[in-house]
Amino acid sequence: MEQLKQRILEEASILSTDVLKLDRLLNHQVDPELTMEMGREFARRFEGEGITKVITIESSGIPIAFATALTLGVPLVFARRKKTLLAEPDAYSERVPSFTKGIVTDLMVSRQLLSPDDVLLYIDDIIANGDAAKGLIRIIERSGAKLAGLGIAVEKTFQPGGRLIREQGIRVESLVRIASLADGKIAFE
Ligand code: G4P
Ligand code: NA
Ligand code: NA
Repeated sequence: MEQLKQRILEEASILSTDVLKLDRLLNHQVDPELTMEMGREFARRFEGEGITKVITIESSGIPIAFATALTLGVPLVFARRKKTLLAEPDAYSERVPSFTKGIVTDLMVSRQLLSPDDVLLYIDDIIANGDAAKGLIRIIERSGAKLAGLGIAVEKTFQPGGRLIREQGIRVESLVRIASLADGKIAFE
């Protein structure tokens, strides 16, 4: 998606050789028109898959997932992240490490929101190592819902998340792929 590449070049900054700061586009400020464009692109790529719900993880995945769900005319479910999970019998939970925050959190989705009749489209802002994504995929598998695939705005291909998920036979569509952040430069694939 050329428009997103341009905006990343103009507005992102490199925090380290493996972290891109996207606060002006995805993680702190949101551009509604650009976000709607991303949602329409994901909806177009997964059109005809019979998606019944869009799913993401709070918080930064929510705007793009909302834009996708609005375009497809289906509900959006967002997994919650909790620091400590008290036993909640009505929820699926999976423990995942967080790449940028260096902490472990529990992803939680109410059992009532996912059913074996659902066909889910998982939307997220960034994929790095894929730990959070793999956690949410385990929850989806446990629910019996079908996963049509993942739509990711920014895939960092020098980290293994996207590849590991494709190796599970799951379709992963990313709008922008970043091959390297070395030498202070954003290198797209
Ligand atoms: P993963 O899903 O690929 O494993 O991602 P991981 O768990 O490693 O990432 C944890 C958090 O770090 C995610 O946000 C993810 O979006 C974010 N992240 C990973 N790489 C980058 C990066 O290069 N730049 C930025 N800005 N964020 C990155 P989160 O913990 O779910 O938090 P939230 O932003 O959704 O609240
Ligand atoms: Na994030
Ligand atoms: Na995210």
